[in-house]
Amino acid sequence: MDIILGIESSCDDTSAAVIRDGYLLSNVLASQDVHKAYGGVIPELASRAHQLNIVPVVSQAIDRAGIKASDITAIAFTRGPGLLGSLLVGTSFAKGLSIALDRPLVEVNHLQGHVLANFIKQYDRENVHPSFPYLCLLVSGGNSQIVRVNSPLDFEILGQTIDDAVGEAFDKCSKMMGLGYPGGPVVDRLAKEGDPYRFHFAKPHVPGLDYSFSGIKTSLLYFVRDQMALDPEFMEKNKADICAGFQRTLIEILMDKLVKAAKQTGIREITIGGGVSANSGLRAAVTEEGRKRGWKTYLPEFKFTTDNAAMIAIAGYFHYLNGERTSLDVAPVSRIADFHGQTGNSSHPAPVMPA
Ligand code: KG4
Repeated sequence: MDIILGIESSCDDTSAAVIRDGYLLSNVLASQDVHKAYGGVIPELASRAHQLNIVPVVSQAIDRAGIKASDITAIAFTRGPGLLGSLLVGTSFAKGLSIALDRPLVEVNHLQGHVLANFIKQYDRENVHPSFPYLCLLVSGGNSQIVRVNSPLDFEILGQTIDDAVGEAFDKCSKMMGLGYPGGPVVDRLAKEGDPYRFHFAKPHVPGLDYSFSGIKTSLLYFVRDQMALDPEFMEKNKADICAGFQRTLIEILMDKLVKAAKQTGIREITIGGGVSANSGLRAAVTEEGRKRGWKTYLPEFKFTTDNAAMIAIAGYFHYLNGERTSLDVAPVSRIADFHGQTGNSSHPAPVMPA
């Protein structure tokens, strides 16, 4: 029996989870409201909040799992990518616990956690997961990628953003319109009330399977600025339609490349992951496209879309089973390119995690 404690602290959520032989026993999350006042994550405040939260979050995860700390087989933690100060807290805590309990450490790439979230098994429900190889549209606040997953440890990035992540586009849209942070959930909610075809925003022309989301932000900025010059009330009066049009365009951009990737690879097992995979419009679009094209689609449960330690624990479990162990002198890495000395760049990146 393998019991894995997962620890996640890459951005502004402190989370700990326990899984036993792939089944989730607990998943505790402390989100940091402190950033709302600033309209974005403030790294120094995030790091301090992690320091306050990490002990209670880990001990609650152990309690709720109904285990003792000494029952833990291995400690999986997010090594990166993310905010360095935030990652340091989880990494240091995992190391301390590893020494105190005399249990091995297993480092996890945060993105790999998102991609494997569909493999978290739960006792009280039917557990379906994609067959290999599958494609994962990984969409979060820091990344937008199409990943080909050959096995739990063998990943290949087929395409990714050459500038901003799609989550950033949602967040910037919300900020521009004074709707608060994080923007995705607010834009999603307002979009449901609006007409998605009233306003149109520029779509990028990027070759291959790569994405770009910086142009659409500028398109929104100029559109709102020009309209407000004519009518200062424009944004307030039309915010639902603006959000609906903006969200529709983002989803069309995402789906165009996903369809292309599925055609190119012939893969029909499709998943999504990352914070933006909580978006109701994107979930509907993936389901609808799947129905039309004969894909088998897998949508993660909402609680596993945004940052959580359950996905870190499951990814760590696969690495643990593969015999991988991390040395105590490990340091967190903020950029994906620094993982295992990889030198990925935006157009031809290294794999998410080497086998
Ligand atoms: O995966 P995540 O929690 O953190 C990163 O690793 O980046 O993703 C956070 C991102 C934010 O940009 C947030 O606005 C976006 O996910 N997000 C959404 C929704 N819920 C969260 N975007 C669109 N629609 C949503 N419902």
